[in-house]
Amino acid sequence: MKKSTILVAGLVGVVMTALIGPGFAAIPDDREAVMKDVMKSFKVLIGVSKSGQFDAAAVSKEASAIAANLDKFKDLFPDGSQAGDTKASPDIWKDRTGFETARNKAKEAAVNLTKINDPAAFKAAFDEQSTACKGCHDKYRAN
Ligand code: HEC
Repeated sequence: MKKSTILVAGLVGVVMTALIGPGFAAIPDDREAVMKDVMKSFKVLIGVSKSGQFDAAAVSKEASAIAANLDKFKDLFPDGSQAGDTKASPDIWKDRTGFETARNKAKEAAVNLTKINDPAAFKAAFDEQSTACKGCHDKYRAN
């Protein structure tokens, strides 16, 4: 009786691992894809910053995309997804609050950028966004 219970429990464990394993294996790729998309938008902002040609519509569009991607990012760190080919630092799982603070800060900077409509304000808002990206990477992205 007891033996068979253990056997069943063992089998359930194997099945669970088979089911969950591949799902989690894809998560680091999802994280990378989201960050690549963030970078695509960020490059447009860099372009605006360098050219000095302020384009409110483009800035607002790309900043909205960054904010939406940072929302998606929130759910891509379930327990168990810290393994594998990832540059996500183990500190994310040890310090969820700090990671969420960094994510919210960057998201707020992006939302703020969507509302900018003059070149003078753009510089400060863009700097704030850059600092927020770097702030999270310095703490939570392994090199
Ligand atoms: C809350 C934390 C956080 C914020 C904010 C953040 N990042 Fe990231 N970023 C990460 C982590 C973690 C990774 C590594 C993901 C992995 O490998 O699983 C990463 C990876 C990247 C990568 C590499 C993607 C690849 O090819 O593997 C780029 C590019 C990037 N981030 C750009 C940005 C930019 C630009 C911003 C700001 C607009 C930003 N990130 C904001 C945490 C953050």
